[in-house]
Amino acid sequence: MKIAVAGTGYVGLSLATLLAQHNEVKAVDIIPEKVELINKKLSPIQDDYIEKYLAEKELNLVATLDAELAYKDAEFVIIAAPTNYDSKKNFFDTSAVEAVIKLVMEYNPNAIMVIKSTIPVGYTKSIREKTGSKNIIFSPEFLRE
Ligand SMILES: NC(=O)c1ccc[n+]([C@@H]2O[C@H](COP(=O)([O-])OP(=O)(O)OC[C@H]3O[C@@H](n4cnc5c(N)ncnc54)[C@H](O)[C@@H]3O)[C@@H](O)[C@H]2O)c1
Repeated sequence: MKIAVAGTGYVGLSLATLLAQHNEVKAVDIIPEKVELINKKLSPIQDDYIEKYLAEKELNLVATLDAELAYKDAEFVIIAAPTNYDSKKNFFDTSAVEAVIKLVMEYNPNAIMVIKSTIPVGYTKSIREKTGSKNIIFSPEFLRE
């Protein structure tokens, strides 16, 4: 399958690396240095498995800053953008997730968007209503342990 991953932090890059063994994966980030490193098969984050897989496995993985290129043909878009918790405002900043959803709806509204980012309870329902998209789903927490 053609899969796009939005965000190449620990969450997005783990999934992109695993999925790129058997799928055509495009990983999007907004930081050029991260994209360059991944395309040189170097991990921007310290993680033994990600480093090993990038170096040793045959992966169908391209990192890019070009959201349109990545999202326009994807069957699935995994959203792993940051959602930092603001403890002063008692509020999750979901603006990066929404920025990705907006672009996917612009370039490829039929793609299924899988949110891996941490979001508040009820968020998926409210963003589906707000955007009118039935293609937004949530995949709950994984832990390495
Ligand atoms: N579902 C789970 O199992 C699970 C597990 C751990 C963490 N999380 C959540 O996943 C999210 C990501 O965590 P992380 O540790 O990988 O974060 P991170 O901050 O290390 O990585 C996020 C990446 O997204 C990039 N980014 C920001 N805005 C973007 C945009 N508009 N388009 C594309 N890329 C963008 C950043 O440059 C960064 O590289 C957080 O919300 C975190 O809480 C989920």
